[in-house]
Parts: sequence; C-alpha cells; structure tokens
Amino acid sequence: MTVPPSHSNEFESSLNIQTFLLFMVAIAVGLLVALVLLPSWMPNLAFSLGGQEPKAFWYLSRATAFVSLTLLWVSMALGLGISNKMARVWPGAPAAFALHEYVSLLGLAFALFHAVIILGDKYINFTLAQILIPFSTLDYKPFWVGLGQVGIYTWALVALSFYVRSTIGQKTWRLFHYLSFGMYFLALFHGLFSGTDSSAGWAQQYYWFSGASLLFLFFVRILTALFDVLFPQKKRPSTVARPSQG
Ligand code: HEM
Repeated sequence: MTVPPSHSNEFESSLNIQTFLLFMVAIAVGLLVALVLLPSWMPNLAFSLGGQEPKAFWYLSRATAFVSLTLLWVSMALGLGISNKMARVWPGAPAAFALHEYVSLLGLAFALFHAVIILGDKYINFTLAQILIPFSTLDYKPFWVGLGQVGIYTWALVALSFYVRSTIGQKTWRLFHYLSFGMYFLALFHGLFSGTDSSAGWAQQYYWFSGASLLFLFFVRILTALFDVLFPQKKRPSTVARPSQG
C-alpha cells in the first residue's frame, strides 16, 4: 500500500524527547526566575501571590487554561488541515506538520501549568493527590474537573506516541492519534462546565467558534476522503529509478 504524502517519512517528527524535556526545564527555570525577580519588579503582583488570600494563582490558572485550549485548537486545526489537504494551500504540508507537533507540546505545557498553579489557590484548596486523581475534587465539580484530568492524561499519551511511532507501528500510532478528537471534547466540556468565565459572552463566543470551526474542518476532511474514493487520482510515476525487471 502506498503511504499518502501526508503520512510519509517526509513529515517524521523533528523533535526528540531530549529537546522536549529541555523545553520543559526551560519553562520551570523561567518560572523560578520570575518568582525571584517578581517582588522587586511588580510588588502588587507579588503581594497578590503571597498575601492572605492570594488570587493571582486563580487568575494565572484561568488565563493559561484558555491559552492551552487555544493551542489545542490550533494543533487540531493544523492536523485536520493536513488530512483534508487545506494545509497544502497555506502554510504548506511540512510546515503545518511541524507546527502541529510543536504547538501541541506547547499546549500540553500550558495545561500542566494551568492544573498545577491552581494548587496555590486557597479558595478552591485542592491537594496534589486531587489534581493527579481524576474525579477526586469532591468539593468542586468533580465530574467536570475530572474530564479535564482525563483530557490531560490522554494528551500526554498522544504526544508521547510521536516518539514511539516506529516501535508501535503506523496503524497503532494512528489509533492513538485519533484519541485527540476525544481529548479535545473532554477539554472543551471541562472548560465550559467547570470554568468561572463560561457565562461571559466572550467565553461563550470563544467556545462556539472553537467547536464549530473544527467541526467544519472535520466535514471537509470527510468530503475529501469521499472524493478520493469516488474519483481516485492516477498515481504519479515514481521519481526514484526502479531496478529493471530483467
Ligand atoms: C489535571 C488536569 C486539570 C485540572 C485539575 C483542571 C482544573 C480546572 C479547574 C479547577 C477549573 C475551574 C477554574 C475556575 O474558573 O474557577 C478549570 C477550568 C478550565 N480548564 Fe482546566 N483543568 C485540567 C485540565 C485542563 C485541560 C487539559 C484544559 C485544556 C486544554 C483545560 C482548560 C480549562 C478551561 C478552558 C477552563 C475554563 C477557565 C475559565 O472559565 O476561567 N483544563 N480547570
């Protein structure tokens, strides 16, 4: 079976696990430096992080929640753009593939930050175990927060599957990759039903745009697949010279 161009080796992962870990360490160091410099740079924010009832943790968690969901949206849109061939028009399939992968990892880093920073919020008062164990935040919307927790584990699994692709094989890798659809809906419903901002007009427009645009790209993908089945294109002759048959 010929591998379609969008899944050929041309688009193999350009990022190795060491680079990813380095990236995570850079984020941690950046946060530490900010914590050390913050009191002199921004005394008001420093007070907000360290006062009696610090609210900054909650604000940071909410802000990074939307950054993370937006990056997940960008990554999904690029992925669907690769498979429905729209990405060939812009930004080009190889660029879309590289961005799809990087943006997903960046989004995962923001999701981790969103989940961990909420530990500092005295009002919600989660423990580390409650953050780690899905559906265990009994005092605060355990089901809806649980969807986000399952979402983040699924995200980590999908991201890691990039690095074991040659070991698990293309078919298994693709099955793992299809989990991203479930992961997106988990994150969307988690945000919608556990977030403080969901009732705000801008947040509702944001969620509608996010879901509807991906649904549109998904339908284009189905239509392209149907078109390919109904009107199969002639395969281009290979540019690699084949050994003569004798
Ligand atoms: C361990 C995983 C997670 C935990 C413990 C968690 C926890 C929470 C909590 C407690 C809230 C409510 C905050 C509030 O508005 O008062 C929230 C909201 C939200 N979360 Fe998560 N979350 C997790 C994973 C995720 C993931 C993977 C995403 C997205 C990719 C995400 C996106 C959001 C969004 C968009 C909101 C709405 C924020 C708002 O309305 O202000 N979360 N999360």
